[in-house]
Amino acid sequence: MPFDLFSPDCLSIKLNLRVEENYLKMSQVAAELLVCELRNLLTIKPKAVVVLSAGGTPEMLYSLLVRKYKDSLDWRRVVLFQMDDYWEMSVQNPKSMAYYLLDKIVYPLNIGTHYLLNVFTAKSTKLVESYTEFLDEFEEKIIAEGGIDIIVHGIGSNGHLGFNEPGSSFDSKARIVTLEKSTILENSRFFNSITEVPTQAVTLGLNTLSKARKIFLLASGKNKKSAVRGCILGPVTKSLPASILRISSSTTFIVDKEAWF
Ligand code: GLP
Repeated sequence: MPFDLFSPDCLSIKLNLRVEENYLKMSQVAAELLVCELRNLLTIKPKAVVVLSAGGTPEMLYSLLVRKYKDSLDWRRVVLFQMDDYWEMSVQNPKSMAYYLLDKIVYPLNIGTHYLLNVFTAKSTKLVESYTEFLDEFEEKIIAEGGIDIIVHGIGSNGHLGFNEPGSSFDSKARIVTLEKSTILENSRFFNSITEVPTQAVTLGLNTLSKARKIFLLASGKNKKSAVRGCILGPVTKSLPASILRISSSTTFIVDKEAWF
């Protein structure tokens, strides 16, 4: 359904901005708020459903969760859905986002249930057709688990959310996408060379992501400033996918000074 900026739903949306001194402080605040939100949720429902971003930005947050908050709640009652990954990259490959989540979050915190989008976890094969079915089932699983309670997002410097690049429809679902050159360049810092970075990826769509009940968006560093300011202060537009957060869930932006001033 198309979004209407002036509908009562949109006007009731809450958007909070926290500008923290630096990356560490941003991560600490994010950890406190996330744990607080999860604990509250778990007092009123048996499970909390989360979607967590991979990428450089939330690394410190995840490390803090493991080091400081492992015993703060029953992580076995957390259900994790993967947000995005490179296309045709094995789960065993340390560069894959599936590996990242398993290594940094799922195993260290002993998260109860996890669902990976990574193509090699799809039962069938790498064939695009059967993988598309897998993605439809993935969306159904999210609904069956009660919908997404919390998302932790990073943001691309071009404003992408997950791997929803500029131009993605606000109604988009889980799908295979082609990455922008700027994203490939940006993510090449995690690879030995830019030619190793996959040119395609898989991502939950903006429609699914925007239905989360609570969203945290983290951003650090001056290369994120224009995307962060654009999505908080600029128009809601497909050319800046993260601007959808202005008209969707209750979102808290937690950014460091460099990403704002
Ligand atoms: C990556 C991922 C996103 C992530 C964003 C920012 O490519 N697709 O899920 O949030 O881009 O990444 P980073 O935190 O490494 O800057």
